[in-house]
Amino acid sequence: MHARSGRDRDVAGARVAFVAFRPGLLSPILDVWGAAFGDAFPACEALLRQNTVEDPHFEPAGCRVACDHGTGRVLGFCIAKVAREPLGADGLLPDRGWISAIAVHPSAQRRGIGTALLRRAEAFLRRRRRARAVLGGDPAHFFPGVPLDRIALAFFAARGYRLEGDAYDLRRRIAGYRTPAAIRAAHPGLEIRPLRPGEEDALLAFLDATFPGRWRYDVARALAAGCDIADVVGVVRRGRVLGFARLFPPGARRIGPSIAWTQRERSRVGGLGPMGIAPALRGRGLGLALLDRAIVRLAALGADEVVIDWTSLLGFYGKLGFVPWKRYRHGERSLER
Ligand SMILES: CC(C)(COP(=O)(O)OP(=O)(O)OC[C@H]1O[C@@H](n2cnc3c(N)ncnc32)[C@H](O)[C@@H]1OP(=O)(O)O)[C@@H](O)C(=O)NCCC(=O)NCCS
Repeated sequence: MHARSGRDRDVAGARVAFVAFRPGLLSPILDVWGAAFGDAFPACEALLRQNTVEDPHFEPAGCRVACDHGTGRVLGFCIAKVAREPLGADGLLPDRGWISAIAVHPSAQRRGIGTALLRRAEAFLRRRRRARAVLGGDPAHFFPGVPLDRIALAFFAARGYRLEGDAYDLRRRIAGYRTPAAIRAAHPGLEIRPLRPGEEDALLAFLDATFPGRWRYDVARALAAGCDIADVVGVVRRGRVLGFARLFPPGARRIGPSIAWTQRERSRVGGLGPMGIAPALRGRGLGLALLDRAIVRLAALGADEVVIDWTSLLGFYGKLGFVPWKRYRHGERSLER
């Protein structure tokens, strides 16, 4: 039961309270998540915690929870974020904030609760002086955009969001994987292998030079948190790192976005990405060679399947048999009146 307050609102005749997030609400939020997203995006509590209370960019004020005024039952939630520490060279991205996730329990949908939650999230972003609300793609994101779902797309489109451009999660089975003959070509002077303790600075120097924003930020945080450097496959020349692929082995402590939706599967799924190569070395087959080594490494770490998240490079990854698994659409709206 909630004390009646000015924040309550009649939504289609029912009194709904919109309360600020508190950790005790994580479990009912997870229940709403499960009911609203179903089997397509089966979150577990560890994932929800990791991307909210354990993420430095999460703040309770950005997460509103809709509750039935009478029973206190949680009906929906919306998580909004702004960058609270610099994302490497991308800095604080002061032009934008993110709508990380929104869901309403199916039994309470189409009563205006989703709209009320979204408007409150947008008001939070405005208070943080953000000019744009971007759907997904936040630090410690759940989704790179909006899951490609008819209702979700209609919901955001009718609420002023421009929806444009798709991103995919790709997947393939790797049991019995063999390196295709076409990518066996040697790359003289280069090693493609898991990085070793002591090569952290070389990896960060490469990222500083080539992918200095969010990718550098995420890798530095992972290393600081004790992530195994061998979970990065590097392209190395005479001690210099010139390419990288980040791996999330099955059971990885950090639930990378590639393995977020496979936690409840029986199959042992590994995650791959991001990956990238120094510009001077592109266009000579090294990317596929790195992808191949990453698959082989994940297989050695016990993966039967691999997921690659947040990409539009269907042709590139398709060469090694990856096919679309989940699809998202990018979307955003201006918050300026
Ligand atoms: C998207 C979602 C949050 C909307 O919540 P809601 O409380 O139903 O939203 P509202 O009642 O404020 O608005 C309803 C609008 O959503 C869309 N919508 C909701 N249910 C719909 C349905 N069954 N068929 C078509 N459109 C539907 C329409 O745009 C509708 O507007 P309308 O009633 O004017 O046609 C809810 O459908 C949901 O939880 N979906 C699953 C989770 C999800 O996909 N989240 C988005 C990605 S993070």
